[in-house]
Amino acid sequence: MILITGGTGYIGAHVALECMVRGEEVLILDNLCNSQRSAIDRISVLAGKRPGFIFGDVRNRRLLDSVLRDYPIDAVVHCAGLKAVGESVREPLRYYNTNVGGSVVLCQAMAQAGIFRLVFSSSATVYGDCTCMPINESCATGQPTNPYGMSKLMCENVMKSVASSDPRWSIGLLRYFNPIGAHASGLLGEAPTSTPNNLLPYLLQVALGERRALAVFGNDYPTPDGTGVRDYIHVEDLALGHIRALDALRDRRGVSLWNLGTGRGYSVLDVVKAFEKVSGIPIPLNVEARRPGDIACCWADPQKSIEELGWQARHGLEKMLADAWRWQCNQHKRDEVRKAN
Ligand code: NAD
Ligand code: WQD
Repeated sequence: MILITGGTGYIGAHVALECMVRGEEVLILDNLCNSQRSAIDRISVLAGKRPGFIFGDVRNRRLLDSVLRDYPIDAVVHCAGLKAVGESVREPLRYYNTNVGGSVVLCQAMAQAGIFRLVFSSSATVYGDCTCMPINESCATGQPTNPYGMSKLMCENVMKSVASSDPRWSIGLLRYFNPIGAHASGLLGEAPTSTPNNLLPYLLQVALGERRALAVFGNDYPTPDGTGVRDYIHVEDLALGHIRALDALRDRRGVSLWNLGTGRGYSVLDVVKAFEKVSGIPIPLNVEARRPGDIACCWADPQKSIEELGWQARHGLEKMLADAWRWQCNQHKRDEVRKAN
């Protein structure tokens, strides 16, 4: 059985579904601070069976001890955490407490229970303002520009120390690039309860008419069209990366680093054009100043994951955007029905 912390969240729910589709038993632990219980129903519909669910906090050691004792868990995927960069600047202690504190407590409880296979949701943010493109796993980690990024780097360092202290650990640090998209069914996707600050949620709000224009944060970067370039990856491809990592960790010890990205960079304007093409909706733009802390370019070298995990992203940008749009339209309809009742 796989324990997925943060398993009702955007990425965790897709990982849970993918594990279940592959016949694994899944137990989700989440405190629902940025997700909804209804994700469990949607996973159940898609998987044809219900995952276990524990409502609780990953920092609650007593709870974790009892969960790891009472269920036949043999590996953990640790997705639970806070992820809004702007919020992390305003509330750094909450971010360090949840992200770093949660990881420490989880590792303590796992060691106590004799469970040593762990996959961690890390981020390309740990590379900081890396100038070698594409970024591979041997590029040095940098100086993340915000407490969120720092907390991810700290978690990685905690896990590296833990693995060096005891040879029984098998830990996979998955460095996600920019996950977007939704499950092709339109039933699972990103449903944050807090204010988003990523490109896609804003773009979708403009498409729905909830916002007048999309703010483009800077068009004077040293990139082909002047806007920031990122490696957007479909969340379903990302989920599959976790399955491959869980498998690979059976035969590995210590810490393994894997980039989960496509290897292709797209600018903000590329994303807008592709979205307009798949949705038929024009997106008004407002060019604004650069967002503090943003870097010009960031895309992955996925070669190590291809070789060691046999994993490669399959979906292109238009598919990611079409799936995100389908999910968003379904969400919107559900909200309208709820308001009408
Ligand atoms: P999300 O907010 O949708 O999911 C995180 C889940 O963790 C939520 O369901 C939330 O309720 C839960 N959670 C938060 N604190 C908790 C706690 N103390 N105890 C139990 N549950 C808790 O975010 P996501 O996009 O699915 O991200 C999942 C992980 O991936 C996070 O660790 C995030 O930092 C990392 N990550 C995300 C991205 C991205 O762009 N989405 C990129 C890189 C890394
Ligand atoms: C993408 C591009 C913006 C919003 C962040 C975190 C990173 C990871 C993923 C979790 C940039 C531009 C954005 C908008 C814009 N998260 N943009 N208008 O900054 O690459 O990464 O999310 O780990 O840690 O830092 O993603 O989606 O915010 O921005 O022009 O309204 O879109 O400047 O070039 P980012 P993003």
